[in-house]
Amino acid sequence: MCGIVGYVGSTGGDDAVDVVLDGLSTLEYRGYDSAGLAVPTPSMAVHKAAGELSALEETVPRDDLAGESVGIGHTRWSTHGAPTDANAHPHSDEAERVAVVHNGIIENYQRLRDDLADAGVAFQSETDTEVVPHLIRRYLDRGADPETAFRSAIDQLEGSYAIAAVFDGSETVYAARQDSPLVVGLGETGTYLASDVPAFVDHTDRVCYLEDGDFVRLTADGAVVTDGEGETVDRPIETVAWDPEDAEKSGYDHYMLKEIHEQPSSLRQCLRGRIDELEGTVNLEELSDIDHDGPVQFVACGTSYHAAMFGAERLRAGCVSAQAFLASEYASDRVPVDGDTLVVGVTQSGETADTLRALREAARAGATTLAVTNTVASSAARECDHALYIRAGPEIGVAATKTFASQQLALAMLAFELGDDPTRAELEALRDVPGQVQTVLETTDAKAVAEAYVDADAYFSVGRGYHYPVALEGALKMKEITYRHAEGFAAGELKHGPLALVTENTPVFAIVTGDGETARKTIGNVKQIASRDAPIVVVTDGKSRVTRYADHVLEIPATDDLGGSVLANVQLQLVAYWIAHGLERSIDKPRHLAKSVTVE
Ligand code: F6R
Repeated sequence: MCGIVGYVGSTGGDDAVDVVLDGLSTLEYRGYDSAGLAVPTPSMAVHKAAGELSALEETVPRDDLAGESVGIGHTRWSTHGAPTDANAHPHSDEAERVAVVHNGIIENYQRLRDDLADAGVAFQSETDTEVVPHLIRRYLDRGADPETAFRSAIDQLEGSYAIAAVFDGSETVYAARQDSPLVVGLGETGTYLASDVPAFVDHTDRVCYLEDGDFVRLTADGAVVTDGEGETVDRPIETVAWDPEDAEKSGYDHYMLKEIHEQPSSLRQCLRGRIDELEGTVNLEELSDIDHDGPVQFVACGTSYHAAMFGAERLRAGCVSAQAFLASEYASDRVPVDGDTLVVGVTQSGETADTLRALREAARAGATTLAVTNTVASSAARECDHALYIRAGPEIGVAATKTFASQQLALAMLAFELGDDPTRAELEALRDVPGQVQTVLETTDAKAVAEAYVDADAYFSVGRGYHYPVALEGALKMKEITYRHAEGFAAGELKHGPLALVTENTPVFAIVTGDGETARKTIGNVKQIASRDAPIVVVTDGKSRVTRYADHVLEIPATDDLGGSVLANVQLQLVAYWIAHGLERSIDKPRHLAKSVTVE
């Protein structure tokens, strides 16, 4: 996830540099690894810097660019290549005739890059994006006008993109959208373009949302939207009623709720280009040189540890010996490690001290190490032998939500890469998860359930198999943001002690999917709880008869157990959120907690 901005001002309009930098500052939630801008008039000027936006603000020669009214800008969340000056956007061709910013992933970039390199193009960065300006340049050299060159280059791309381009000396911005958001703003003194409305809501509330396959040409007088054939298309102009402050949260009360709702798109990004349905395989490009058939050990903390438990279970299902360890206990566990062991650190930040320490110890013992992380060039990514990126985009809420779901899918894919190949049904189930999460978000009764139990004494959650780590994760979310006692259990364990805690004021959330052996056993445990008068909330696909014991049902679409655990977790995230909301807690910044824990 990255943020892009474009602007063409009319006479008397604002300076492009100011509009672009202000816009980028509202989009930093989409990425803050590096930032850059291009002003193409009177001649192309490109400025970029690794680090937060402030680093770019310090380097841009505002005086030199004063009075110029055309520009594009970018704030980056790395998916290919480390966050360096060279990898920052905009990217240009060698002669700087065109500059491009991009949000998304170009899946066929390697083929395009090889092709361009064979033709003599010298690449300056490791990004997928850099192929675009070179392709455009190729068409310019063949005599195409800027718009034709832009369209011809876009036609060659596979993947997801919101792309904007400016041409040397020109006062027009060209853009295209496929599977990445792009919205046009129509103001009194200029025309705006951005990944999200907050970037220009200070200037205009008249917006036009682009759709997949749309191209747009922005001039000071407005925007012309065309389809892939070049035919003009009408996109409705809407008025947004957003307060600029609310706009950064896209109208949600909290980042946590916004991030829960981002899961369909962040999960799509996680899967993109990694599932080959024709071949029936998973292809993790980053791991193409891993050749491993020894045991796998996961090390992680907190939410990431729950994802690690899930990953270990999936690997075992694929006939790979795998175990998950709490990173802080890894040294005391004295686990045997040697050159055959693959140690996987699961860490969204890539900076958690306990996890880094466990990875370093494993490396010293001769293990191969892999970081499964959301943060390109984080310490974990740099120090490990390999890195697999979960591509969830920045997460601002301290309580991890979308990163957990993306860890689940990334680890499921890792299991298919290292273990048995997926069946067709398993691949389809994986592919369908993002859409099914969308269904959960649209149909959930989590708010009503939360209202019913906001005054409970404690909250318990139970599950078996893939649902056990989700029961733990549901309870952790509840603890973190409600400050109430919550505990997750393996469903079969309740009768060995915790059942003594159950009362009529302790709701128990039970996750039951399918109607096989696992479901049957969990239903047995649910009956034991129900007979102690505890309220039962079942999270289920409705395939079994568990609903007959339920006081409330949180429905999820039918899929396999693996996909079902991702969907069930979304329901539990929402219940925790709405209870915390009812209790007026500090949801995005819970007391005593930090987003990244860099001490042991
Ligand atoms: C809980 C949460 C923490 C983190 C843990 C590890 O919502 O976010 O439990 O999961 O501190 O962090 P990372 O994944 O950055 O290593």
